[in-house]
Amino acid sequence: MIKTEFRTIVTEVPHPKALEMADRLAAVESHSMHGQLPVVWDRAVGSSVYDPWGNRWIDFTSTIFVANAGHAHPLIVDAIVKTAQKPLLHAYNYPTAERLNYLEELIRVTPSYLEKAFLVSAGTEAIEVAIKLMRMNAMAAGKRRSVVVSFEGNWHGRTTGAQHLSSNVDQRSWIGHEDPGVLRLPFPYPWIAEATSDPRGFFRETLQRELDARGWTLKDDIAGFMLETYQGWGAVFYPADFVKEVERAAKESGGLLVFDEMQAGFARTGELFGYQHYGVQPDLVCCGKGASSSVPLAFVLGSGYLLDLPSVGSMSSTHSANPISCAAGLANLKAIENEGLIERARDLGLQFHAELNSIANASPAVSSIQGLGMVAAIITNGVGDADASAIATEISWECMRQGLLVVHTGRESVKIAPPLTIALDAMIEGLSVLRKVIDDVTAKHS
Ligand SMILES: Cc1ncc(COP(=O)(O)O)c(C=O)c1O
Repeated sequence: MIKTEFRTIVTEVPHPKALEMADRLAAVESHSMHGQLPVVWDRAVGSSVYDPWGNRWIDFTSTIFVANAGHAHPLIVDAIVKTAQKPLLHAYNYPTAERLNYLEELIRVTPSYLEKAFLVSAGTEAIEVAIKLMRMNAMAAGKRRSVVVSFEGNWHGRTTGAQHLSSNVDQRSWIGHEDPGVLRLPFPYPWIAEATSDPRGFFRETLQRELDARGWTLKDDIAGFMLETYQGWGAVFYPADFVKEVERAAKESGGLLVFDEMQAGFARTGELFGYQHYGVQPDLVCCGKGASSSVPLAFVLGSGYLLDLPSVGSMSSTHSANPISCAAGLANLKAIENEGLIERARDLGLQFHAELNSIANASPAVSSIQGLGMVAAIITNGVGDADASAIATEISWECMRQGLLVVHTGRESVKIAPPLTIALDAMIEGLSVLRKVIDDVTAKHS
């Protein structure tokens, strides 16, 4: 039994009824949707998640990097309720005040080179839109090919185009063919010596090698570069010089620099967009998740020229710009501004990472802490008979039993990203749970 200011565990965890619900779901839903920790979410408010049986967790997941402004932020709830009660639940592509107000505000708060948006419902759709715009731009420029360059280990979603960009062969083998218009380059992991000592050279050499092997050139064949702002599974950022060199290559090629800001956007890293840490200006920015802190909302931002490449009506979607999503998106922007969440992520993030690094230094089960602002990954080591990914899984499960929710990646990492509104005391309590769990798991296997 646990009862603190921020956690309550009064039953067995996982609760037997949670396991029963998981079994019933498995009978009626594809098991590909499953694999998360067995916690039934009944209510989520601020940085707390409640199940129906009296248990309460500190949330270090923001669901999955969505609830940046906190769960059920009052401004967002109010905007959703008001729009639903108007009532205006759906309006296809007809103009609505919700859509206009949201887009005007979105374009106002984003950097001036981002002039227009294309709204969709899911992150993976935004990636598809960006691939299409990259290739349309290459065709308009008369290029021989329209090759999209992506980076190994990056992940951009589950639809066909997004999976073609993935370097995970298992995840894309179902497509049945390789996209000849995708070129994958090595990611500059901090543990690759050449990548850290000379990030620009590392990028240029690997790019040139791949181009030469195919008889391609930057100018004739490359449509653009797609970068996840940080590599998802491990919150691994690129060296800034590497990204600056990618920007230079994109300019030389006449192609586009595109960022997938799904996890990094909307204040998470201490900037509105995570790419701003690199000092570059992307041509397209793909967003989702924290864009609404709640209901489905995703989009691509870019210049008027690029966003208007498709002809009138040729790139629309039934659920684009849903009025409830737009109202939630606008309220989310207000919440970020009113509560100073960009600065908060920056300031709180310093304390967050200092404590995580102290945990890492004290434990042989942790190889490093990655991330920035209010996102971090604890990269695990194997201990005794347990490999690194088994250690990460054990940490995730034990945190759940102790009243702390973390992101179970299924790999050698534990991801954490609390809502940016989390109270300092709740964050400190969550980190102390993490420290104790890591110590216990390490001791068990040593
Ligand atoms: C970096 C990144 N890109 C794209 C996606 C796909 O977004 P969605 O799940 O909304 O389709 C995700 C989702 O986890 C992501 O983390």
